[in-house]
Amino acid sequence: MRPADSKLPNLYLVGFMGVGKSMIGRRLAKQLSMHFVDSDHAIEKKAGCSIKEIFETMGEAHFRALEKEFIDSGHAASGEVVACGGGLVIQPGMADFLKSRGVVICLFASIETIIERTGRNRNRPLLEVEEREIEIRRLFKEREATYLSSGTCISTDDRSLNDIINHVIRVYRSQLD
Ligand code: S3P
Repeated sequence: MRPADSKLPNLYLVGFMGVGKSMIGRRLAKQLSMHFVDSDHAIEKKAGCSIKEIFETMGEAHFRALEKEFIDSGHAASGEVVACGGGLVIQPGMADFLKSRGVVICLFASIETIIERTGRNRNRPLLEVEEREIEIRRLFKEREATYLSSGTCISTDDRSLNDIINHVIRVYRSQLD
């Protein structure tokens, strides 16, 4: 295994739940010889409990504070591909802050794809509601403008993983000085 290149600017992957940030991020990190970090996993590790438990016992506002803490001081300043939880970039000022720390790429997928992909597991507290599809559409609409302005947007619908990875790498490299 090649050593990680710690000098490369961070690459932040943002976007709605189910667009593929973690899976794509892991592959990107490998290909770019960078470290991979997933904000949700880092938060869970530090808190010693799951995102679900954090939401249940301390509430969403506390989770958002933990996300902010992770971005402020919980990850390296360079050399990392960071898969950000879906709501992280929605916090006021966060998109600009991420842009000041690296390259921000927003992954997109159609609502139908998101509904299908997020239906496969039950570890997303915001989607544990009776009308899951309606909630996904509502949340997506509420967040869409912020996602669109957060960074370069790349669709993950109906494309091979290789195609997506190569596209992200092209955009990332084009934004390096
Ligand atoms: C959330 C997305 C989740 C996780 C939490 C809240 C959101 O991450 O951070 O359940 O607000 O969109 P993924 O986008 O990795 O599912």
